Amino acid sequence: MATLIARNLKTLEEALSSRKIINKKIGLVPTMGAIHDGHLALVDKCLKLSQVTVVTIFINPIQFNNKKDLSNYPTSIRKDINILSKKKVDIIFIPKAKEVYPIGFSTFIELKSFDNILCGKSRRGHFSGVATVVLKLFCLINPKIAFFGEKDYQQLFIIKKLVRDLNLNVNVLEVKTVRDKNGLALSSRNRLLSKEEKNIASKINSILKEVSIKDLKINKAILQSTSKKLYSEGVTKIEYLEIRQEKSLEIWNPKQFKNKPYRIFIAVRVGKVRLIDNMRLSD
Ligand code: PAF
Repeated sequence: MATLIARNLKTLEEALSSRKIINKKIGLVPTMGAIHDGHLALVDKCLKLSQVTVVTIFINPIQFNNKKDLSNYPTSIRKDINILSKKKVDIIFIPKAKEVYPIGFSTFIELKSFDNILCGKSRRGHFSGVATVVLKLFCLINPKIAFFGEKDYQQLFIIKKLVRDLNLNVNVLEVKTVRDKNGLALSSRNRLLSKEEKNIASKINSILKEVSIKDLKINKAILQSTSKKLYSEGVTKIEYLEIRQEKSLEIWNPKQFKNKPYRIFIAVRVGKVRLIDNMRLSD
């Protein structure tokens, strides 16, 4: 089947109710576009595990708490369509904001926990915006499976919680972070980095990799020395550098080690570009 591009709700609804698609197992890959190999890892898994693959490209305005960040978000729709069509995804849904949020739209998901830590601290309302759009996409597309990257671990965690709390009939599957040869986690925002900034960003992963559970046990001040290394490599600002339990997002307590595994989480600015990463700590 050739890839169908749905630019409005009507075309999407018609496609989803067509004889070729109805009653098939739909897999969803929600994206904001500027497609890279990290997205394609989600798409590949979706193509493998579902009968119909729907990729959405929508820069969701309500998850941005900063207008400049929204207007600077990279976009490459034509290229994205090309790449996704070559992958033979079934439907690409590219709605306009006014159709997703028509005048008078006033219903938002409110999160009572997990949105005030890590990225939620500096990006107020971000996860409410993510949860609202993801729920809306689930309602519109009715997927059996949806795919999210581990790179946005807090987002993945919150969406899994949304699905549990609201008894949604969707299986949320995570896909490992895809990295370039230097370990830099692939992200649409990497396109905003200058060559020099990219070199700096490429050091982040190897510095994080130096932290292990064994080290934490010996050196309680390990995060301070890690921060120092990051600054000395040229990172402009560390927004957070934290270790948390993977399953609960509870913060690491240096006095006790319980309920492994732990993950290290980071958000930095390199120049003006905000980058995040996380990884499981080894023993
Ligand atoms: O991860 C993203 O690209 C976005 O937060 C998502 C899940 C597509 C919701 O807008």
